[in-house]
Amino acid sequence: MKIAIIGAGNMGGSIAQGLSMGKLVSTSDITVSDLDSSKLEMLKSNYSELHITNNNEEAVSDADIVILAVKPWLVKPVLSAFDLKRKQILVSIAAGITFEQLAQSVLEPEMPMFRVIPNTAISELQSFNAIATRHVTAEQEELILNIFNEMGTSIILPEDKLSAATALASCGIAYVLKYIQAAMQAGIEMGIRPVDAMNMVAQSVKGAGELILKNETHPSIEIDKVTTPGGITIKGLNELEHAGFTSAVIRAMKASNQ
Ligand SMILES: NC(=O)c1ccc[n+]([C@@H]2O[C@H](COP(=O)([O-])OP(=O)(O)OC[C@H]3O[C@@H](n4cnc5c(N)ncnc54)[C@H](OP(=O)(O)O)[C@@H]3O)[C@@H](O)[C@H]2O)c1
Repeated sequence: MKIAIIGAGNMGGSIAQGLSMGKLVSTSDITVSDLDSSKLEMLKSNYSELHITNNNEEAVSDADIVILAVKPWLVKPVLSAFDLKRKQILVSIAAGITFEQLAQSVLEPEMPMFRVIPNTAISELQSFNAIATRHVTAEQEELILNIFNEMGTSIILPEDKLSAATALASCGIAYVLKYIQAAMQAGIEMGIRPVDAMNMVAQSVKGAGELILKNETHPSIEIDKVTTPGGITIKGLNELEHAGFTSAVIRAMKASNQ
């Protein structure tokens, strides 16, 4: 199974690394194309079996799966510059570019297409990937799910839910990082070294995620375990609410859902 990745930036580069580290695809079957040779050379220095090129057409010519990882405004010009065949699978990770828009830029509008919205934790194989499908078989769906599950956790959603998933999981990772930054500031004011504060908070965030994901519990159950009546945690939680924490998070997510 040959895979072409167009664009070796944050996302395309991480996907190339993730696939190379995984077991489903052999590294020598992956070709990464970008105009910027330095990004390609960097990838190649870590994964010597990767094929790299500046020629998109060459990259896609014998690919079974073409992963498009360029900025949204480049999707149309990049896709229009080569002819994908109906038997190939197009995977677009460009946020906000609909199936209808993708179909207008390919020769075979009925070809199998996926839209995948990962997040930047894909470089750590810890992404949440929201995936929508168009004209795909059950086998193709399973294949793409398996590929992206190697780089995190994936679910299939209707296309009209992708923007909400983008807000929650792709923009959402920035909100979590903002929390880490804010908590660090508090720690530093309380006399903790920045690097120690960063590790304390990041590990707490990771631990909170593990509690939910591994035990499949609801956050309120986990919160209940740490809120002793009259204790210090409930004092802090109530301060967060007085400052509008829940409302601010809801508003931020809704603002990002476009
Ligand atoms: N970042 C996220 O959290 C996130 C999450 C979900 C989805 N996405 C989507 O992922 C896509 C890529 O985002 P990114 O952050 O990875 O962007 P990026 O870092 O800018 O990567 C895009 C790469 O494509 C290259 N490129 C530009 N024109 C090209 C062409 N004609 N042929 C081949 N390569 C070309 C760029 O090179 P130059 O830098 O030289 O222009 C760059 O290396 C976007 O559509 C975005 O919506 C991003």
